[in-house]
Amino acid sequence: MNDLTPTREQRTAALEGMGCKRKRVEDARFTQGKGNYVDDLKLPGMLHGDFVRSPHAHARVKSINGDEALKVPGVLAVITAETLKTVNLAWMPTLAGDVQMVLADGKVLFQNQEVAFVVATDRYAADDGINKVVVEYEPLPVVIDPFKAMDADAPVLREDLAGKTTGAHGPRKHHNHIFEWTVGDKDLTDAAFRKAEVTVKEMISYHRTHPSPLETCQCVCSFDKIRGELTIWGTFQAPHVIRTVVALIAKLPEQKIHVISPDVGGGFGNKVGAYPGYICAAVASIVTGKPVKWVEDRIENLTATSFARDYHMTTEIAATKEGKVTGLRVHVLADHGAFDACADPSKWPAGFFNIVTGSYDFPTAHLSVDGIYTNKAPGGVAYRCSFRVTEAAYCIERGMDILAQKLKMDPAELRLKNFIRKEQFPYHSALGWEYDSGDYHTAMKKMMETVDYAGLRKQQAAQREAFRRGETREIMGLGVSFFTEIVGAGPSKNCDILGIAMFDSCEIRLHPTGAGIARVGTKSTGQGHETTWAQIIATEIGIPADNIMVEEGNTDTAPYGLGTYGSRSTPVAGAAIAMAARKIKAKAQMIAAYKLEVHEDDLEWDIDGFRVKGLPEKTMAMKDICWAAYNSVPPGMEPGLEAVSYYDPPNMTYPFGAYICVMTIDVDTGVYTIKRFYALDDCGTRINPMIIEGQVHGGLTEAFAIAMGQEIRYDPEGNVVTGSFMDFFMPTAVETPHWETDFTVTPSPHHPIGAKGVGESPNVGGVPAFSNAVNDAFSFLGSTHIQMPHDYWRNWKAAKNLGVFAA
Ligand code: CDP
Repeated sequence: MNDLTPTREQRTAALEGMGCKRKRVEDARFTQGKGNYVDDLKLPGMLHGDFVRSPHAHARVKSINGDEALKVPGVLAVITAETLKTVNLAWMPTLAGDVQMVLADGKVLFQNQEVAFVVATDRYAADDGINKVVVEYEPLPVVIDPFKAMDADAPVLREDLAGKTTGAHGPRKHHNHIFEWTVGDKDLTDAAFRKAEVTVKEMISYHRTHPSPLETCQCVCSFDKIRGELTIWGTFQAPHVIRTVVALIAKLPEQKIHVISPDVGGGFGNKVGAYPGYICAAVASIVTGKPVKWVEDRIENLTATSFARDYHMTTEIAATKEGKVTGLRVHVLADHGAFDACADPSKWPAGFFNIVTGSYDFPTAHLSVDGIYTNKAPGGVAYRCSFRVTEAAYCIERGMDILAQKLKMDPAELRLKNFIRKEQFPYHSALGWEYDSGDYHTAMKKMMETVDYAGLRKQQAAQREAFRRGETREIMGLGVSFFTEIVGAGPSKNCDILGIAMFDSCEIRLHPTGAGIARVGTKSTGQGHETTWAQIIATEIGIPADNIMVEEGNTDTAPYGLGTYGSRSTPVAGAAIAMAARKIKAKAQMIAAYKLEVHEDDLEWDIDGFRVKGLPEKTMAMKDICWAAYNSVPPGMEPGLEAVSYYDPPNMTYPFGAYICVMTIDVDTGVYTIKRFYALDDCGTRINPMIIEGQVHGGLTEAFAIAMGQEIRYDPEGNVVTGSFMDFFMPTAVETPHWETDFTVTPSPHHPIGAKGVGESPNVGGVPAFSNAVNDAFSFLGSTHIQMPHDYWRNWKAAKNLGVFAA
């Protein structure tokens, strides 16, 4: 070794592997406007499609006349349900086992439902065309309030289901009922409540909201009549699933369908499902023989593509006088809108809502969920969340605060008293999950010490006194939240989509010069996979991350994977990447042993290559092994250095975190100020701390938006009154608070690199922290629970209802 020989630290640093704050490689194109999005695609002869949409929330469609539209210069076709029936595509299957109209078939069931698809030579002509389509409607009574959907005299929404007493998830109790899902031991839970010293009960609503990716949903479909092949470029979070769905419903051979997700400008669950726009563009391309583009606008996105939440959770907790929880009982009324198009693994009609026992050691629990139809847009996507986990975390975290209030206990102290203890992991929850690992007490105490929780409570007590004395009009709230997530769907034993197990995949191919390509079944929509996947490979096989190109989103080249949503990428694909790398390493070891003329067991791994045990100077770098793989492999071995892994995870991963929000509210105006927000996350092994921080910032910003104002609201006639960014709260840098982030590391015991997901965590933990802060602020005035969202007006109204508003 001489002075120029790199040190071990330098060799490790050169790899930019796991733990390194590697800069995002994709940003080179994103920050220079060089991304390649669906709408950048311009094909020769490309046509454009646009929708005629229903102004009514519920109406019979008596007639659709496209004659005038066809006279508009450039308009080529007006497609209706009748057209689609000729190719058996008027209805499409949903991911939840229901069916959904592609275009209005006899009636419309929500405002802005797709009624007809106008195809024209350019977008403007298509838009002119839709204004000329004449649709005759006969309005019908609407069902907007979910609590009235199952009234005996409620209008029948889904006439196509008439007489069907069973749906995809069991018996239906009413014509607007979709399913009932129950989990847990009812008798044991009822007994716990009968014996309880203290109980609380509250109806906690998580309002309807909607993801807002920068780029809306869109596609270009191009059918090649000669080859019989359909190519679809689209904003898909799960391109392989889209290809399979298209093959099944369009009856095209799967190998003749090419699905490509180019750069995608944010997903947040919005781009998991299949929308009528995709079907109509594909049919229009097949009919015209030309490529057809469909790009929705913002109002269409907010009002017609998949919504999120809309869960109304009657929550009961039983406890001892000392504050030890003894039972949890939750009933959810789940408003799924006009069709059950909820994007969950097939067997889970309410997603993973049964994580609702949260971070607490409930000896028993019972959950029942009733899914219902209303005249609202369909969906139920995991908006920056893992399949209804956000709703569950909100439910239990508000519930624990309400219990603390009744017991006159500090909410942090109540949590510490009931946490699952470190030594209880793997922990079996009363509602059926096996939590992999956790150290909740350490995380909570770190949060409390860092923010000086005791000091903040003293400050709050002083502020309350000052308020009582009339010296201030501001009240102060501390919103504590401690969440446990469940991410990484998922194990084939209980997770599938349309019968396809939710594994994920990676194929790594190393080139002779020590560089390579990794193709993965996931699809980044901004999470930085091109950066972090290469970091896993760098650490595993000692090739610098800069030498690994990561490719996702093309079904012809990527191995089959189930895509990116619900923070599943790191838990599932991240594991596949490590396993594929390990296969490569095993072959590399054989090549190195052959070249170094030793037995492979005599080799040990050392940062970026192998060395002979006991002879540290006898080494072979991975870069040199790559070269050897193409010219001098051991006799009988195939040349080349590549591997593929399809990883079926044995369990989900369970990230967790301790958050606190410090907020003041002016009772006369309802205006709130976020004084401080601290978020401690534990996502196991951290691949890229900088990307994790970015994920937490983004998720917290969305949590802030949702808790403090973002809502899809309907008037009693079913008109969406928050259908644009004029009304739908979209925080900018001006409103967004400063985020303080922190972490602990509790690796997942079953994941090859110990990593858990993180992308959804800040939304899951953030929403209850904000809501608990508002509720904590008002609690000393006698309030128990104020429903979200907590915008200025509602805060003002809460103050007014509590009699503290001055005027
Ligand atoms: O599925 P999705 O990519 O949305 O979520 P994720 O698996 O939580 O990953 C989000 C981003 O954070 C990816 O770039 C991950 O590689 C990164 N991450 C990380 O660096 N370390 C972790 N333990 C978890 C995620």
